[in-house]
Amino acid sequence: MPLITRRALLASAGAGFFVAASGGAYAGLIEPGLMLNVTEYRLTPPGWPEDLPLSIAVIADVHVCEPFVPMSRVKRIVETVNALKPDLIVHLGDHEATYRFVSARVPPNEWAAAYADLSAPLGLYTILGNHDWWHNADTIRGALDGARIRIMENEAELIEHRGRRFWLGGLGDQLAHLFDRRRRMGEDDLPATLAQIRTKDPMVMLVHEPDIFDEMPARVSLTLAGHTHGGQIYVPGVPNPFIPRDYRGRFRYGHVVEEGRHMIISGGIGMSGLPVRFGVPPEIVMVRLGNEPAVA
Ligand SMILES: [Fe+2]
Repeated sequence: MPLITRRALLASAGAGFFVAASGGAYAGLIEPGLMLNVTEYRLTPPGWPEDLPLSIAVIADVHVCEPFVPMSRVKRIVETVNALKPDLIVHLGDHEATYRFVSARVPPNEWAAAYADLSAPLGLYTILGNHDWWHNADTIRGALDGARIRIMENEAELIEHRGRRFWLGGLGDQLAHLFDRRRRMGEDDLPATLAQIRTKDPMVMLVHEPDIFDEMPARVSLTLAGHTHGGQIYVPGVPNPFIPRDYRGRFRYGHVVEEGRHMIISGGIGMSGLPVRFGVPPEIVMVRLGNEPAVA
């Protein structure tokens, strides 16, 4: 039997430590703190007019806090989104961070003021996420209102764009009240939101958790969701404790098509639970619906 030499043992231990340390540095610092991808989706889902181009920049799950997502990071998000020149900007909630590793809070008025610099012809709309509720929904609403950012909670709005119209809906959070592991109560009201649709114009729906997609009617051309962080730690084939079992195959990340209905799940930007990301770099999602009409 070959015997391993002491030098080889030390070398392999050193290599192991280096891999662990560099992997930790990558997952704790580089991927979550420095990376910011732009992930683009081009699609014309059922019900959306082929000749009505609409670009939507999607921000999700920023979880602003010191030291992991400080104001400098928020400003970079704003600059990145503005450089994309979208028609519409949406934020899918979880503005706040509620995990134990937060060293200091960034006052909501500060990050909300930074978002007020986001610029798009059709404006900026946001919904609230579970961590916004678990922190303090009234405080978050107050900060967003103070920055004149439109909050949607079980509301739908008819928006004019290129001489046409479309509906934008935003749901209340589905995990707003968490009593214990099994008992939870949401603030979402999908029937009341859909009841506001008075015309046949196409619709885009903003939701925080993707779970509601099972109930989303085909009337909604596209559902935009966040919340999952794409698992936050993702190694293909390796089970992920952050992702509920039901999500793993269906609702973890990306473009989901079921029974002709479309949903895009953003991997988001920040973190919850643990201050690490691995295999799911922070991202701005850029959705491009429809096509530019051909010039005669
Ligand atoms: Fe969330």
